[in-house]
Formats: sequence, structure tokens, C-alpha cells
Amino acid sequence: MKTIIEPFRIKSVEPIRMTSRAEREEMLAAAQFNLFKLHADDVLIDLLTDSGTSAMSAAQWGAIMTGDESYAGAKSFYKFEAAVGDLTGFRHIIPTHQGRAAEHLLFTLIAKPGHAIPSNTHFDTTRGNIEAAGAEAIDLPIPEGRQPSLEHPFKGNIDLGALDAFLSEHGERTPAVMMTITNNAGGGQPVSLENIRGAAEIAKTHGKPFYIDGCRFAENAWFNKLREEGQGNRGIKDIVRDTFAVADGMTMSAKKDAFANIGGWLALNDDALAEAARTRLIQTEGFPTYGGLAGRDLEAIAQGLEEIIDEDYLRYRVRTNAYITERLDAMGVPVVKPAGGHAVFIDARAFLPHISPLEYPGHALACALYEEGGIRGCEIGTVMFGRKPDGSEAPAAMDLVRLAMPRRVYTQSHADYIVEVFAELTTKKDDIRGLKIVREPPMMRHFTAAFERL
Ligand code: F0G
Repeated sequence: MKTIIEPFRIKSVEPIRMTSRAEREEMLAAAQFNLFKLHADDVLIDLLTDSGTSAMSAAQWGAIMTGDESYAGAKSFYKFEAAVGDLTGFRHIIPTHQGRAAEHLLFTLIAKPGHAIPSNTHFDTTRGNIEAAGAEAIDLPIPEGRQPSLEHPFKGNIDLGALDAFLSEHGERTPAVMMTITNNAGGGQPVSLENIRGAAEIAKTHGKPFYIDGCRFAENAWFNKLREEGQGNRGIKDIVRDTFAVADGMTMSAKKDAFANIGGWLALNDDALAEAARTRLIQTEGFPTYGGLAGRDLEAIAQGLEEIIDEDYLRYRVRTNAYITERLDAMGVPVVKPAGGHAVFIDARAFLPHISPLEYPGHALACALYEEGGIRGCEIGTVMFGRKPDGSEAPAAMDLVRLAMPRRVYTQSHADYIVEVFAELTTKKDDIRGLKIVREPPMMRHFTAAFERL
């Protein structure tokens, strides 16, 4: 059959509170045109993030009831450790309350002032943790990864030549090489297994450990199966194991590809580094068998990891974004192509050419999507990246809007509705106006800035 159905039925639902356009205009103005300040209840379709917003399965809720809340040695920890170990093969698995806590642990231990850490593209929190340690976060994506409308099967790949050259020149100040799968900041684009192996090999040749930010590892493995030569007949679990087999460790947000609402981990093979990480963990997160999580959270993650590698789920998951992306593309809405694993990305600078980058076309589109259809997305552009540390401002490389899909939450009619809202906006896009910032904090301004419409 051609129709890919949601591979689940729904037993428990959350009602959506319907709102009118007039109400939404009022609520957005009251929130000073900052979508982060809206009450979630005032949003019809919430695509702000795919992080921690997954619908858990009946099996996960069941597992939650069996959570062992012992301070030390809880059986929920051993279940979690076995589930992560089975998929990744790492020797030491250290739970944390979310992904950025794992990054914080790793980089406070390995990064020092003057160091540099290359990656395909660091996610913001990874970059933040590297910079907080006084080191430099270096992005080395392949050139294709920087062109929104260009089709390429593995746009998330790292530029292997650039990595090798970087390590030849800066090897002595590089404590590790990183790889983000999928490449969130680059549009949720996958990385090929060949590229992961290539990067690991280069790191090894230069004597550097290789770490994977594995937040969306299952989506990445699905793309490997779909698009990479030699992977088509292999099981997802085998591809996942091969992915991590070449790494020395990983950071993970279980809020993504573990179907959990909270959680993460740091995994390592190096015994001494793992011991240092556990010591630090006790100071900042908790005892090494719970790491800032409740036993029930560890249960939800262990069960979620069984479910995330299901091929029927992954087929539906990746198809949802491809379906929306293809329909927007056919309608002439400029989108990042091909569709990423967890989100649809719209090139707002191309969609709204009458709004200059410093009048925030991405943010203007995100506001219009909310007013028109109650859809909450997120600007990834000049509002997020345009302010320099000295307070000056410059356009970001791109002005995108990300519509991130929570896992197992929305259905095809929600997808059709999103497309319809774009069809409506397309007819009135010339009337969409830019914005100016009237108040902003010194950093991470997109979360709390106040705007006015021009
Ligand atoms: N790495 C990647 C690639 C991520 O996408 C995220 C989170 C993190 C690390 C940090 O994990 O949130 O558990 O601390 N991304 C979310 C997003 C917030 O909306 O893309 P965390």
C-alpha cells in the first residue's frame, strides 16, 4: 500500500484548545512577539522542539510504575545500562539529567583554554559547553551542507579533507573530534556510516579520541539504511552498533531518540576518564546509578530504546517530514532539501525576500505561522545567532524556521493542516512585516527578547 499509516493507535489523548486568529494575534502581542513566552495551551500544533515532547508508549508508562528509586544500585539503573550497552557497546554508561549535562561533564574534563574541538556542526549547547571551558568549537560541514535547496543524501557529513588538514595544523591543541548525528543545526541532515568511519579513522591517525553526539542516532541509522550502499538489507540495530563501534564515547539526550521526556547519558571507553566523570557527576548530577534522574525515568529510557529502532516507526517518522517538505516544495515554498529526520526547515529569507535579515524574516514567518494557524515553530537565524559578544549585530548565515516534530504525537491530518496554513500564507506573504528587538539579554537572546512589529 502507498499510504504509510501511523504505526500505533491512540489510547490516551490530550485535547487541543481551539483558538481564533483574533485571539492569537492578541496573545502574540501580549507575549511581545516572542513565541517562547506563549502559554503552550494557546498553541494548536506545537513544533517548537522534538526534545522531551515524545508520546510515551503504554509499555513505557508501565515500566515507569516499576521504577526502583533506591539511591544506589537501583535495578532500573542496570536495566538502563544494559539497554544503552546493547545498542552502543560502550564500557562505561553514566546517566545525566539531559544531553547538555553530559556535554558539560565531558568538556569540563577534556577541554582547556586554547583548545579547539572540530565537528560536522556542533549543536548550540555543545558549542556553549566547549566555549565555557575556554575552548573553540569548530564546524567543518561539507560545502553541500550549507546550501538549503541542494539535494544530497548525507548533507550532515563532515568535510574529511578539512578535518585532516585541521588536525595536521592544530593537532596539538585538539583534545578530541566530535560528530553530531543527525546534524541538527545543519537541518536534521544525516551522516553516512562511511563518513563516520572516515572521521574516526582520521581522528585515530592523529591520536585523538572520537566522540559522537548521538541524540538522533536511530533516525540517522534509518537514513543509512535507505540511502547508503550496502546498508539496505541490514537491521537498524546492526547499523546503530556499527555507528558507535568506531567511537570512544558519546553524549546523548534521551529526550530525542529514546522517547523519554527527560534524561541523557555520557558513555565512554576510557576507564580513567570515566572515573573522573563519575566523580564530577556526584558533585553536579547525583550518584552514578541515577545521575540526576529518577529510577522511573531510567525505566522509560530503557523501554524507549527498544521501541526507537523499530523500522515501522522510523519509516513513519521520517516520512512525515518528507511529506510536508515535498508538498511545501511543490507549492513553491523554499525548504531545506531533502527533508531532515526530525524537522521541516523553511528558508524564510528566500520566502520573504522583502524583509531584510536584520528585520528577522525567520522570526517574522514564525510569528505569521502562529497567527495564521496556531503553529509554533522556531526561528533559527539572525535572532538566534546575529548578536555578537561585543553587542553588535550581523545577519546569520541563513534565516530558517524549524518545525520540529514531536515523536508519535501528531497525525497526518495535522501534517495536512500545516501545509494548508502555508498555502494560505503564500497568498498574503507580501504583507508579512519584519520586526525589531526592543529589549534583549546579553546572550541567548531568542529565548527572552521582546519585539515590536515594523
Ligand atoms: N545535541 C543535539 C544535537 C541536540 O539537538 C540537543 C538538544 C542537545 C545536544 C542537548 O540536549 O536538550 O537534552 O540538553 N536539542 C533540542 C532541540 C533542545 O530543540 O533541538 P538536551
